Amino acid sequence: MTNHWEKHKYIAKTLKGLEEPLKAELAEIGIGKCRVTNRAIEFHATKEQLYKANYLFRNAINILKPLYQFTAINEQELYDRVKEFEWENIFGLEKTFAISHSVNSDIFTHSQYISLKTKDAIVDRFRDKFNSRPSVDPKQPDVKFNLFIRGEKCSILLDTSGDALFKRGYRIETNQAPLNEVMAAGLISLSGWDKNSTLVDPMCGSGTICIEAGMMLCNIPAGYYRTDFGFFNMEDFDLDLWKKVRNEAKDKIDLRKGITIYGSDLAMKSIRISQKNLDNVPDLKRIIRFKGQDVLDMSAPDEKGTMIINPPYGERIYKDEVAILYQRLGEHLEEEFKGYTLGILSSNKEALDLIHLDKQRKVDLMNGSIECDYRIYTV
Ligand SMILES: C[S@@+](CC[C@H](N)C(=O)[O-])C[C@H]1O[C@@H](n2cnc3c(N)ncnc32)[C@H](O)[C@@H]1O
Repeated sequence: MTNHWEKHKYIAKTLKGLEEPLKAELAEIGIGKCRVTNRAIEFHATKEQLYKANYLFRNAINILKPLYQFTAINEQELYDRVKEFEWENIFGLEKTFAISHSVNSDIFTHSQYISLKTKDAIVDRFRDKFNSRPSVDPKQPDVKFNLFIRGEKCSILLDTSGDALFKRGYRIETNQAPLNEVMAAGLISLSGWDKNSTLVDPMCGSGTICIEAGMMLCNIPAGYYRTDFGFFNMEDFDLDLWKKVRNEAKDKIDLRKGITIYGSDLAMKSIRISQKNLDNVPDLKRIIRFKGQDVLDMSAPDEKGTMIINPPYGERIYKDEVAILYQRLGEHLEEEFKGYTLGILSSNKEALDLIHLDKQRKVDLMNGSIECDYRIYTV
């Protein structure tokens, strides 16, 4: 019989700059004590809280469970130590598994080989015990492990999420430079949007910000449209507990908010793609409206609200055009969107400096590998 109140240590990974909204999500499921590190938060949670974290969190990339820590000074020792661990308590023979690795060590210099050795040790443990072995599937494994080595210190972590949590299950098509869904959710949280007024993305691309905002507005769990999570494949998976978590979250969905979210884009292709993605979130069809429009022709749909923009950065090409666009954008918003909050994400700091609005704060974020400013203004 599993003890539901027993707590384990977990690490929620996030994107640079989103630690604060992730911490707030932990607090929402009753976890106040945690340790914030760079792009990650360590915390202790019950199994129920773990299921909630995977299902509800909008700002987490994945949730890892440290399983096993040891030291090893050569490959044979690593193999022996890995083989000692009771892998059969973690996953069953019928499951497939894979190991990703991050190795930084003078001792272990061939990281691929080390990863292979680790796989062999796990497989050999099963073979010795059951005369049979689980299969390795590097592409679509049921169970994912992370092997982390620094010097002689080795740890193996279990990825309780499986597919990364930004894979929400709704975004089938994308146009140029789509935002990671976790980043989109983070931008909305950092803007301080009150969910009582409208939200506008006038350069909506594939519609990510609008769809994330709609899900937040209506309390639709981030993982609502996913069909799978890593923890489903664990030996200790508790189906009844999962159903309880899912049903409680579903009961909190409220689609009658009386607020409209507006997405627009100059490119009609973007609007078609946004609309297609919205088709995969049918619950939000009455809440989100997409249309083709130049941001500079737009007028405020409501008296107050929040605008979030991820404009083209034009770092290498169209530098001058982009600078003019940002400057005009600032002027246009000042005329048409007085009282709005504006959050704008860009790596083009020179162009951002041409927006002369009242700046509230700036957060340093990474959009993929691009260093960006997220500047929040009161218009
Ligand atoms: C970086 S993409 C936005 C990506 C989007 N956040 C997503 O997740 O898919 C920038 C978008 O700005 C649009 N755009 C550029 N100039 C515009 C303008 N003047 N008015 C409206 N949209 C514009 C482009 O068509 C492009 O879709």
